[in-house]
Amino acid sequence: MRKQASAEAPANLAFVKYWGKKNSGLRLPANNSISVNLSQAKTSTTIIFDSDFEQDRVILADTQTPAKAEFTLRVSEHLDRLRKLAGAGGVKALVQTQNSFPSGVGIASSASGFAALTTAASAALGLPLDPVVLSSLARLGSGSACRSIPDGFCEWLAGNDDNSSYAVQVAPPDHWDLRILTVVVSEKTKKLSSTDGHALAAASPFFEARLADLPDRLNKVRAAIVARDFKTFGQETEKEAVSFHTIAMTSPIQTADGWFSGAYYWLPESLEIMLAVQNWRAEGLPVYFTLDAGPTVHLICLEQDVETLKRQVKMLENARPGRNWTFLTNAPAIGARVLA
Ligand code: PMV
Repeated sequence: MRKQASAEAPANLAFVKYWGKKNSGLRLPANNSISVNLSQAKTSTTIIFDSDFEQDRVILADTQTPAKAEFTLRVSEHLDRLRKLAGAGGVKALVQTQNSFPSGVGIASSASGFAALTTAASAALGLPLDPVVLSSLARLGSGSACRSIPDGFCEWLAGNDDNSSYAVQVAPPDHWDLRILTVVVSEKTKKLSSTDGHALAAASPFFEARLADLPDRLNKVRAAIVARDFKTFGQETEKEAVSFHTIAMTSPIQTADGWFSGAYYWLPESLEIMLAVQNWRAEGLPVYFTLDAGPTVHLICLEQDVETLKRQVKMLENARPGRNWTFLTNAPAIGARVLA
């Protein structure tokens, strides 16, 4: 038996974050979350199932090097779920995968990666390509991957069990001319993975307070997207980013080699950009920030302001020698697709 398929999926950026799980085995989140798919941050994956293969292999296509053992194991475990559903138990796979952006720095490469993998593997195995089913399955690989399946702006419904936790569309990509200027200030991989961060979240003394705020914030962000109300949307998104990082910074971490008072995902440059955003806004440029679990800052503006914003950020970059930031100008994008 030999079966092959390719798929592409975007990373997504959360405006209301997923941080903390109510069931870690099933990756059921503590709360709903809302995101948009990013046009300039994609994973392309080709998978070949072949009964002659002796083991699963994952190759990073751009360098033709094998992926780290830990990642290969996670892929293999995810493929086991899909093989079981398809009744293709013992058939091993070769996975070739490639990101269009740096990984481990606060752009959700696990989201695009597991959305592309789930879509490609389901297509190759002849499983149904229903978006709800794909979204639930992608979630089991990496939680936020479920939001990279539908097109455009998406909400992950937390649900109560395996079948009720998946993402749905809030608005299509062309609904709103939003731009996300993603500023990668460092390509060093973060110290605490999001998987570990989720597990620690409930240890923050502020976690319950955050959960109590979220239903109202979710309603406001969802409604602001639908109404294209940039001000409410931006304000809630920025408050939410600070709320999420407060949890991360106040979840004490015990590691084999020490104790950390919390996960500080920001770098000095991240904070410099965040403070600059507040100034630019005071000067009349409508822009808001958010950050995921890494130092990368995502600047949110309308299409008409993106060139002015880029000039401002460039000026900040050039204000100190030796800086070399990478910029991605993202528009709202479609979700995962099988490639011909
Ligand atoms: O899906 P994970 O385990 O990589 O977690 C994603 C966590 C955040 O990016 C910080 C928030 C989110 O909702 O994407």
